[in-house]
Amino acid sequence: MEKLIGKNLNVSIFISGRGSNLLSLINYSKIKNSKIKINLIISNNKFSRGLEFAKKNKIKYHIVNYSKKNQAELKILRYLRKNKIDLICLAGFMKILSSNFIKKFKNPILNIHPSILPRYKGLNTHMKAIKNKDKFSGATVHLVTPKLDSGKIILQKKVRISKYDTEKTLAKKVLKIEHKLYPTAIEKFLKKSNL
Ligand code: GRF
Repeated sequence: MEKLIGKNLNVSIFISGRGSNLLSLINYSKIKNSKIKINLIISNNKFSRGLEFAKKNKIKYHIVNYSKKNQAELKILRYLRKNKIDLICLAGFMKILSSNFIKKFKNPILNIHPSILPRYKGLNTHMKAIKNKDKFSGATVHLVTPKLDSGKIILQKKVRISKYDTEKTLAKKVLKIEHKLYPTAIEKFLKKSNL
Protein backbone atom coordinates (compact mmCIF):
# COMPACT_ATOMS: atom_id res chain seq x y z
CA MET A 1 0.00 0.00 0.00
CA GLU A 2 1.22 3.45 -0.87
CA LYS A 3 2.17 5.61 2.16
CA LEU A 4 -0.58 7.91 3.24
CA ILE A 5 1.16 10.47 5.41
CA GLY A 6 -0.94 13.62 5.66
CA LYS A 7 -3.61 12.07 3.50
CA ASN A 8 -6.98 10.58 4.37
CA LEU A 9 -7.44 6.88 4.07
CA ASN A 10 -10.23 6.07 1.62
CA VAL A 11 -12.40 3.42 3.20
CA SER A 12 -15.19 1.30 1.79
CA ILE A 13 -17.62 -0.45 4.14
CA PHE A 14 -19.42 -3.60 3.02
CA ILE A 15 -22.77 -4.36 4.63
CA SER A 16 -25.75 -6.68 4.25
CA GLY A 17 -28.23 -5.62 6.91
CA ARG A 18 -28.79 -3.42 9.93
CA GLY A 19 -25.58 -1.38 9.61
CA SER A 20 -25.01 -0.41 13.24
CA ASN A 21 -21.25 -0.95 12.86
CA LEU A 22 -21.36 1.13 9.69
CA LEU A 23 -22.94 3.94 11.71
CA SER A 24 -20.28 3.71 14.41
CA LEU A 25 -17.58 3.94 11.73
CA ILE A 26 -19.29 6.91 10.07
CA ASN A 27 -19.37 8.65 13.46
CA TYR A 28 -15.72 7.81 14.04
CA SER A 29 -14.76 9.20 10.61
CA LYS A 30 -16.31 12.52 11.62
CA ILE A 31 -14.24 13.08 14.75
CA LYS A 32 -11.37 15.51 14.71
CA ASN A 33 -8.05 13.99 13.61
CA SER A 34 -9.71 10.88 12.22
CA LYS A 35 -7.64 9.65 9.30
CA ILE A 36 -10.40 7.73 7.64
CA LYS A 37 -12.80 8.93 5.02
CA ILE A 38 -15.69 6.63 4.20
CA ASN A 39 -16.38 7.25 0.58
CA LEU A 40 -18.03 4.08 -0.62
CA ILE A 41 -20.57 1.64 0.80
CA ILE A 42 -21.27 -1.69 -0.84
CA SER A 43 -24.34 -3.76 -0.05
CA ASN A 44 -25.41 -7.05 -1.57
CA ASN A 45 -28.91 -6.40 -0.27
CA LYS A 46 -31.14 -3.61 -1.49
CA PHE A 47 -33.24 -3.86 1.70
CA SER A 48 -30.23 -3.37 3.97
CA ARG A 49 -31.25 -0.89 6.64
CA GLY A 50 -27.66 0.37 6.77
CA LEU A 51 -28.20 2.04 3.39
CA GLU A 52 -30.23 4.68 5.21
CA PHE A 53 -27.03 5.80 6.96
CA ALA A 54 -25.32 6.12 3.59
CA LYS A 55 -28.15 8.29 2.29
CA LYS A 56 -28.34 10.44 5.42
CA ASN A 57 -24.61 11.06 5.39
CA LYS A 58 -24.44 11.53 1.62
CA ILE A 59 -21.98 8.69 1.16
CA LYS A 60 -21.86 7.04 -2.23
CA TYR A 61 -23.26 3.50 -2.22
CA HIS A 62 -23.76 0.64 -4.64
CA ILE A 63 -26.12 -2.29 -4.32
CA VAL A 64 -24.51 -5.28 -5.98
CA ASN A 65 -26.55 -8.23 -7.17
CA TYR A 66 -24.80 -11.40 -6.03
CA SER A 67 -26.70 -13.93 -8.12
CA LYS A 68 -23.43 -14.42 -10.02
CA LYS A 69 -20.66 -14.08 -7.45
CA ASN A 70 -17.84 -13.80 -9.95
CA GLN A 71 -19.49 -10.94 -11.82
CA ALA A 72 -20.50 -9.25 -8.59
CA GLU A 73 -16.92 -9.27 -7.34
CA LEU A 74 -15.56 -7.90 -10.62
CA LYS A 75 -18.07 -5.10 -10.44
CA ILE A 76 -17.10 -4.30 -6.84
CA LEU A 77 -13.41 -4.28 -7.77
CA ARG A 78 -14.17 -1.69 -10.44
CA TYR A 79 -16.00 0.52 -7.92
CA LEU A 80 -13.10 0.17 -5.48
CA ARG A 81 -10.56 1.17 -8.08
CA LYS A 82 -12.63 4.07 -9.30
CA ASN A 83 -12.90 5.42 -5.75
CA LYS A 84 -9.23 4.74 -4.93
CA ILE A 85 -10.11 2.65 -1.90
CA ASP A 86 -7.21 1.94 0.47
CA LEU A 87 -9.03 -0.19 3.03
CA ILE A 88 -12.18 -2.32 3.10
CA CYS A 89 -14.07 -2.84 6.36
CA LEU A 90 -16.58 -5.66 6.34
CA ALA A 91 -19.38 -4.85 8.77
CA GLY A 92 -22.00 -7.56 8.77
CA PHE A 93 -21.35 -8.44 5.12
CA MET A 94 -22.88 -11.88 4.67
CA LYS A 95 -20.97 -12.92 1.55
CA ILE A 96 -17.61 -14.66 1.59
CA LEU A 97 -15.00 -12.88 -0.53
CA SER A 98 -13.17 -15.18 -2.94
CA SER A 99 -9.39 -15.55 -2.75
CA ASN A 100 -9.28 -14.09 -6.25
CA PHE A 101 -11.02 -10.93 -4.99
CA ILE A 102 -8.69 -10.63 -1.99
CA LYS A 103 -5.64 -11.05 -4.23
CA LYS A 104 -6.84 -8.56 -6.81
CA PHE A 105 -7.79 -5.86 -4.31
CA LYS A 106 -4.23 -5.89 -2.91
CA ASN A 107 -4.96 -3.52 0.03
CA PRO A 108 -6.03 -4.70 3.50
CA ILE A 109 -9.51 -5.95 4.31
CA LEU A 110 -10.77 -5.99 7.90
CA ASN A 111 -13.75 -7.79 9.39
CA ILE A 112 -15.58 -7.67 12.71
CA HIS A 113 -16.72 -11.03 14.04
CA PRO A 114 -18.98 -11.58 17.07
CA SER A 115 -16.86 -14.05 19.01
CA ILE A 116 -13.45 -14.39 20.62
CA LEU A 117 -11.69 -15.91 17.65
CA PRO A 118 -10.40 -18.54 17.05
CA ARG A 119 -13.43 -19.75 19.01
CA TYR A 120 -16.59 -19.99 16.91
CA LYS A 121 -15.82 -19.09 13.34
CA GLY A 122 -18.79 -18.71 11.00
CA LEU A 123 -22.42 -18.26 12.06
CA ASN A 124 -24.45 -18.63 15.29
CA THR A 125 -21.59 -17.63 17.56
CA HIS A 126 -23.80 -16.55 20.49
CA MET A 127 -25.81 -19.75 20.43
CA LYS A 128 -22.60 -21.80 20.47
CA ALA A 129 -21.10 -19.80 23.37
CA ILE A 130 -24.24 -20.26 25.48
CA LYS A 131 -24.60 -23.92 24.60
CA ASN A 132 -21.01 -24.56 25.66
CA LYS A 133 -21.59 -22.68 28.92
CA ASP A 134 -18.71 -20.31 28.18
CA LYS A 135 -18.00 -17.66 30.79
CA PHE A 136 -17.06 -15.06 28.19
CA SER A 137 -17.91 -14.08 24.69
CA GLY A 138 -16.94 -10.97 22.77
CA ALA A 139 -15.86 -9.65 19.41
CA THR A 140 -12.77 -9.69 17.23
CA VAL A 141 -11.48 -7.43 14.48
CA HIS A 142 -9.20 -9.34 12.15
CA LEU A 143 -7.63 -9.22 8.73
CA VAL A 144 -9.52 -11.06 6.01
CA THR A 145 -7.75 -13.91 4.27
CA PRO A 146 -9.19 -16.62 2.00
CA LYS A 147 -9.72 -18.82 5.08
CA LEU A 148 -12.96 -17.83 6.84
CA ASP A 149 -12.51 -15.82 10.08
CA SER A 150 -8.89 -16.93 10.32
CA GLY A 151 -6.74 -13.88 9.45
CA LYS A 152 -4.43 -12.07 11.84
CA ILE A 153 -6.24 -10.70 14.88
CA ILE A 154 -6.02 -6.93 15.31
CA LEU A 155 -8.05 -6.49 18.49
CA GLN A 156 -10.53 -8.36 20.69
CA LYS A 157 -12.79 -7.45 23.55
CA LYS A 158 -14.60 -9.76 25.94
CA VAL A 159 -17.96 -9.59 27.67
CA ARG A 160 -19.05 -11.80 30.54
CA ILE A 161 -21.86 -14.24 29.86
CA SER A 162 -24.29 -14.41 32.76
CA LYS A 163 -26.41 -17.45 33.51
CA TYR A 164 -29.46 -15.42 32.50
CA ASP A 165 -28.15 -14.57 29.06
CA THR A 166 -30.03 -15.79 26.01
CA GLU A 167 -28.79 -15.67 22.45
CA LYS A 168 -30.61 -12.37 22.10
CA THR A 169 -29.29 -10.64 25.23
CA LEU A 170 -25.76 -11.82 24.53
CA ALA A 171 -25.95 -10.56 20.94
CA LYS A 172 -26.99 -7.16 22.29
CA LYS A 173 -24.12 -7.05 24.80
CA VAL A 174 -21.58 -8.02 22.16
CA LEU A 175 -22.90 -5.56 19.58
CA LYS A 176 -22.52 -2.74 22.09
CA ILE A 177 -18.79 -3.41 22.50
CA GLU A 178 -18.37 -3.88 18.73
CA HIS A 179 -19.27 -0.24 18.13
CA LYS A 180 -16.24 0.92 20.12
CA LEU A 181 -13.99 -1.97 19.16
CA TYR A 182 -14.06 -1.48 15.38
CA PRO A 183 -12.86 2.16 15.34
CA THR A 184 -10.25 1.39 18.03
CA ALA A 185 -9.00 -1.58 16.02
CA ILE A 186 -8.73 0.52 12.87
CA GLU A 187 -6.72 3.11 14.75
CA LYS A 188 -4.40 0.43 16.08
CA PHE A 189 -4.07 -1.13 12.65
CA LEU A 190 -3.21 2.21 11.04
CA LYS A 191 -0.56 2.95 13.65
CA LYS A 192 1.00 -0.49 13.29
CA SER A 193 1.01 -0.37 9.52
CA ASN A 194 2.72 3.02 9.79
CA LEU A 195 0.30 4.79 7.47
C1 GRF B 1 -22.21 -7.84 13.90
O1 GRF B 1 -22.52 -8.61 15.02
C2 GRF B 1 -20.87 -8.24 13.33
O2 GRF B 1 -19.95 -8.69 14.28
C3 GRF B 1 -21.23 -9.40 12.42
O3 GRF B 1 -22.48 -9.03 11.86
C4 GRF B 1 -23.16 -8.13 12.74
C5 GRF B 1 -23.48 -6.91 11.94
O4 GRF B 1 -24.31 -6.01 12.64
N1 GRF B 1 -20.20 -9.64 11.45
P1 GRF B 1 -24.58 -4.56 12.02
O5 GRF B 1 -25.16 -4.77 10.63
O6 GRF B 1 -23.29 -3.82 11.97
O7 GRF B 1 -25.57 -3.91 12.96
